[in-house]
Amino acid sequence: MDIHSHCEPERVRVTHASLDLEVDHAKKEIRGTVVLSLDRPDREAPLVLDAKGLAIESVKGSDGGVRLWSLGPEDASLGSALTIELLWADTTVRIAYRTTERSEALQWLGPDQTADRAEPFLFTQGEPIFTRTWIPLQDSPGVRITYDARVRGPEGQTVVMSAEQAGKDAEGAFRFRMDRPIPPYLIALACGRLEFRPISERCGVWAEPSVVDRAREEFADTEKMVQAAELLFGPYRWGRYDLIVLPPSFPFGGMENPCLTFATPTVLAGDRSLVSLVAHELAHSWSGNLVTNATWSDFWLNEGFTVYFESRIMERIYGVERARMEAQIGLADLEREMKELEPRDQVLHIHLRGRHPDDGFTGVPYVKGALFLRRIEEVFGRGSFDRFLRSYFDAHAFRSITTGQFVQYLERELFSLDRALAAQIDLHKWLEEPGLPEDAPRPQSKTLVEVDLQIGRWKAGTAPGDLETRGWVTQPWLHFLEGIGDALDAGAMAKLDEAFRFTSTGNSEVLDVWLRLAIQHRYAPADTRLENFLMTVGRRKYLEPLYKEMVKTGEGKVRANAIYAKARPLYHAMTTGTIDEILGRKK
Ligand code: BES
Ligand code: ZN
Repeated sequence: MDIHSHCEPERVRVTHASLDLEVDHAKKEIRGTVVLSLDRPDREAPLVLDAKGLAIESVKGSDGGVRLWSLGPEDASLGSALTIELLWADTTVRIAYRTTERSEALQWLGPDQTADRAEPFLFTQGEPIFTRTWIPLQDSPGVRITYDARVRGPEGQTVVMSAEQAGKDAEGAFRFRMDRPIPPYLIALACGRLEFRPISERCGVWAEPSVVDRAREEFADTEKMVQAAELLFGPYRWGRYDLIVLPPSFPFGGMENPCLTFATPTVLAGDRSLVSLVAHELAHSWSGNLVTNATWSDFWLNEGFTVYFESRIMERIYGVERARMEAQIGLADLEREMKELEPRDQVLHIHLRGRHPDDGFTGVPYVKGALFLRRIEEVFGRGSFDRFLRSYFDAHAFRSITTGQFVQYLERELFSLDRALAAQIDLHKWLEEPGLPEDAPRPQSKTLVEVDLQIGRWKAGTAPGDLETRGWVTQPWLHFLEGIGDALDAGAMAKLDEAFRFTSTGNSEVLDVWLRLAIQHRYAPADTRLENFLMTVGRRKYLEPLYKEMVKTGEGKVRANAIYAKARPLYHAMTTGTIDEILGRKK
């Protein structure tokens, strides 16, 4: 039972969606038809779909005749139930529709918001419950479907989707086919001026012409990552693994759309130091896409497993020290975040009744989820745990499962093997209670111990230029900045800036922390860069802490509102949803 969908799949279930669409940048509209194939255990029941911000034009049954339909009352986050009266013989329905300016999944970008500034661009973001804003369907992660699509875009533009590419037809429309059942939030599309560069036989990267070669360089290790993942979790089952680098307003770091990870250009640091994002999205090809959270209360099954796998992939390719360093930073971030979270939001198996699934989007499902799995690994040993994980994926492949089903499988296939070991893991505490259990693993990195030394020296008065920072990449710098944050003032920031040029760094991860500190300590020389960053980057994880820091003072609030007035139209709906709340704008 999914409280975030209107559908009643045990009565009538959608099994396949066949899309025929046209992308119209001028009207900012996708229009066309979707034919839904149905499984009908209850022949008396109507078909109930989710729809939000869609203009429904007509609904027809299998024989081509019109069918009665109605849109129920609209819930601000869930949208409406679209109820269709079926005739006895209907095995399909055909819905003609178009999207509207309220279709939150879609972001329509003007040429100025792209890297090449030449042509408009469109991308979609389906997770968690936005697919219903561009396709009427049963938008629940427990209702898996296959899909195919035919999409016309403007002359000269390329359309890509989260599916196997099936060529172009005579009219120049792009064709796609996803023949493995996926949750609807994984249907995704992008359309713009795109080029492709291969990385290996089955991996490659799409991006705007001016970005694609840089992206190819940054992601050169992708094939190695796929091979490492296969050794750990079993065969990669989705054919190709490509990435697309989107324009900077993309609201996430990455999104694991099958066959085609969507990624922010802010990971292109030039030194491959942020490629754990690729390991993460790739890992979702198992955790999330192959075995999916059945409801958004089980979101930790997607993200906790994925952070754990991400770390295993990173360890295999870049060594245990790099993996530990990233894990230690992840834990530090979680501990800072948890201090601000209500107890109910610190729980892995989260209650979401009356709430939007996005309310559960915190570090908890990610980092606490991964630590839980680390803990099991630690107690049972890597060999046993890896065998368990392999069998878990094989047993649940292409299925959506709940936390309860996971626990059942864990009890039966691992905990029953050794009751004494199992007794060391308090499942209830990990899954249903707030906070971090005392037995949570604490990853420790040697490199970061070195950084701690330098933090100590800086605090004791050593000049920035005399610190030993040689060889530091992103993570040591992040740890350094977080470590000195409380002891800073504008004068100290100026000296650090002179030595390390933080304000002009091309590393967005470091820049984000630096800019937050600049707001906190009123370091004015970073103002221009801050405004520029807020006006181009739409990645929510970066923007949220910056706006939050600004609204802490009266003067900052005025500034935040002034910048946001200009920047808001440049952000995706998922980002504006969050920032609106920080700035006290009503929904
Ligand atoms: N699946 C998530 C993104 C997501 C989650 C979108 C929930 C909408 C709702 C994706 O895999 C993710 O976790 N992205 C992270 C990157 C990662 C390296 C932790 C991000 O975007 O920051
Ligand atoms: Zn993820």
